[in-house]
Amino acid sequence: MGAGYVVAVVGATGAAGSTTLTILEERKFPVRELRCYASERSAGKTVAFCGDSLRVEQVGAEAFKGVEIAFFSAGSAQSREYAPLAVKAGAVVVDKSSAFRMDPAVPLVVPEINPHAVKGHAGIVASPNCTTVVTVMPLKPLHDAARLRRVIATSYQAVSGAGVRGVEELRRQTLAWARGEALKVEFFPHQIAFNLIPHIDKFAENGYTGEEIKLVNEVRKILELPDLAISPTTVRVPVFTAHSIAVNVETEEPVTPRRARELFADFPGLRVWDEPAQNRYPMPVVVEGQDDCFVGRIRQDLSLANGLNFWVVGDQLRKGAATNAVQIAELLIR
Ligand code: A2P
Repeated sequence: MGAGYVVAVVGATGAAGSTTLTILEERKFPVRELRCYASERSAGKTVAFCGDSLRVEQVGAEAFKGVEIAFFSAGSAQSREYAPLAVKAGAVVVDKSSAFRMDPAVPLVVPEINPHAVKGHAGIVASPNCTTVVTVMPLKPLHDAARLRRVIATSYQAVSGAGVRGVEELRRQTLAWARGEALKVEFFPHQIAFNLIPHIDKFAENGYTGEEIKLVNEVRKILELPDLAISPTTVRVPVFTAHSIAVNVETEEPVTPRRARELFADFPGLRVWDEPAQNRYPMPVVVEGQDDCFVGRIRQDLSLANGLNFWVVGDQLRKGAATNAVQIAELLIR
């Protein structure tokens, strides 16, 4: 580690935290010193970074002395407890949890969409929910070209979005199924192997889940469209990595599929894979490991004048979490 910043990663042993270490290394983020934190359970474990083996420490009130940039992905409760302490110690926090996302004083940033928002930060910048990031990326160029009137989004979300315990549960249940053994449900509310669970996060009184409400509120905040009509359904699927979202949009101005392809292809961070004759469209297994979001199945809505359907897939540990967080840090140091 050479010249650069003193960086902390809180939740360094988790799915998003360990991907953050990978992305910091891949993007050559200027790190002078890296401190890795997790809970008591992981204290003493080691993680790899730039050829070094770093010891994981238990996070505590004293962890942030001298830290300049702190990435948090240890859950909302941990962010609520420790992010203010990190800010007090002089760090800027890039928070992956939902703790501060809807706080009017906290920018919620997707660097390709609203980089200007980081300027107003008071110590914390939030990175959106992983499904929000993948959904909002193609919405931005469509809105700029034709103004969004209504969005219907249905997600197919990978188990790693729920953290390493989600990954372990799908693997364990799949192995048990292959051996002909009974499947144990320990983490998700139902069996996830060979199943779909239309329930992510708690149910609210109106019948929507927390994940669906986050998607609505966060997309509105990022696009600065507080009244945008959005109708969400979020579903956990037995896929290890990458979230897929089936999106239907209605726009004020007409947009042909051909024009939409051009708009998506020109937008940074988006790529178009849309060649039905070649069976070419985005899928989780091919998008996993990539930083861009991929759009395909772009077609006119048959039931609506200014309607368009498309399918967008993004690696939610990368663009949906770690890559977006590191891009935010890159904006902060620019
Ligand atoms: P640990 O490995 O000690 O459990 P994921 O989202 O993949 O489940 O990962 C969550 C991350 O947040 C892990 O690094 C986990 O550390 C960390 N974490 C969970 N609870 C706490 C806590 N109370 N204090 C600090 N880190 C925590």
